[in-house]
Amino acid sequence: MKILTIETTCDETAAAVITDELDVLSSVVASQEELHQRFAGVVPEIAARAHLERCLPVIHEAIHKANIELSDIDAVAVAHMPGLAGSLLVGVTAAKTLAWLLDRPLIGINHLQGHIYACQVAFKKPIFPCIGLIISGGHSTIYHCRSPFDFDPLGGTIDDAAGESFDKVASMLGLPYPGGPSLSKCALNGDPKAFAFPRPFLNDSSRLDFSFSGLKTAVRYEIAGPGAVDFKSLIIDDQRKADIAASFEQAVVDCLVGKTMLAMQKTAIPRVCVGGGVAANRRFREALENRIAEEGGELLIAPMHLCTDNAVLGAIAIEKIKAGQVDDLSLDAVPGLIR
Ligand code: KG4
Ligand code: ZN
Repeated sequence: MKILTIETTCDETAAAVITDELDVLSSVVASQEELHQRFAGVVPEIAARAHLERCLPVIHEAIHKANIELSDIDAVAVAHMPGLAGSLLVGVTAAKTLAWLLDRPLIGINHLQGHIYACQVAFKKPIFPCIGLIISGGHSTIYHCRSPFDFDPLGGTIDDAAGESFDKVASMLGLPYPGGPSLSKCALNGDPKAFAFPRPFLNDSSRLDFSFSGLKTAVRYEIAGPGAVDFKSLIIDDQRKADIAASFEQAVVDCLVGKTMLAMQKTAIPRVCVGGGVAANRRFREALENRIAEEGGELLIAPMHLCTDNAVLGAIAIEKIKAGQVDDLSLDAVPGLIR
């Protein structure tokens, strides 16, 4: 069985062809990074228009790279939740049209569940039950994942997402978008102990939540104080910049790792699966690897191209087909964030 999966939840237009054995026959991702760079964040209207331009070429390329014809597809899957409304609508409309034209089953998938399921595709072994940590530009959530569709949110951010805070702090430091990679690079030359930035909730073992907004404000005050400031014209000494970057990064990593360990402890589940772009962060990976190894647990982080937004995360549709959870043409885009 071959499934065409479509992903347009945020700012990547992606399509993939995956078999029911979880073999990835093709995976194509068209990034919109260059379109959003000058705004230092994703602009929903621009994202939706770019999906519209790129959706069909990306689907064609995925079919071509899989070395098949469109008519060889047995089912069409699409991430229909959560995400940006205009972006989601493009993928959902394309998937519905194809499913109708080809007369094939249509499967709507939850993008967040797909992020965790990407670990099952990457490691080709059952991952459930596990603690699922999704850390991206839009999400920072810890789940108790009992099965592919039974996710219980244990906690998450009460304000900014982890990746969003990287992007915003990088922008304050005059580093290019996306901020995660540029800030971590800058942090390599810095002292992570130079500034004692806050680590909200870290010592509160009663909750598994994050808050990155206050941390971002603390960095802002350190850089420029509370008054109005034009960050673009601010000149910051290179060493000071690196020290701020390293101290900020360490604070985020301490929170992410601390709460993941607490989730393992509270649920007694020894396996952790991570998805989302922030999983690329080296300091985070090393810290989490070490802590989980100390506890004798198992950490699964898919290779980077499967951690960031891509259509392989639609492989979870295979589980839905097996469970008889097929949708009809009334499938709708559901933008709302579900934690
Ligand atoms: O999952 P993703 O590609 O897209 C969504 O947000 O859905 O994640 C992108 C986020 C951005 O905020 C980016 O700054 C962050 O992941 N990111 C990183 C790193 N690489 C990407 N954050 C910290 N360190 C990194 N090395
Ligand atoms: Zn995502």
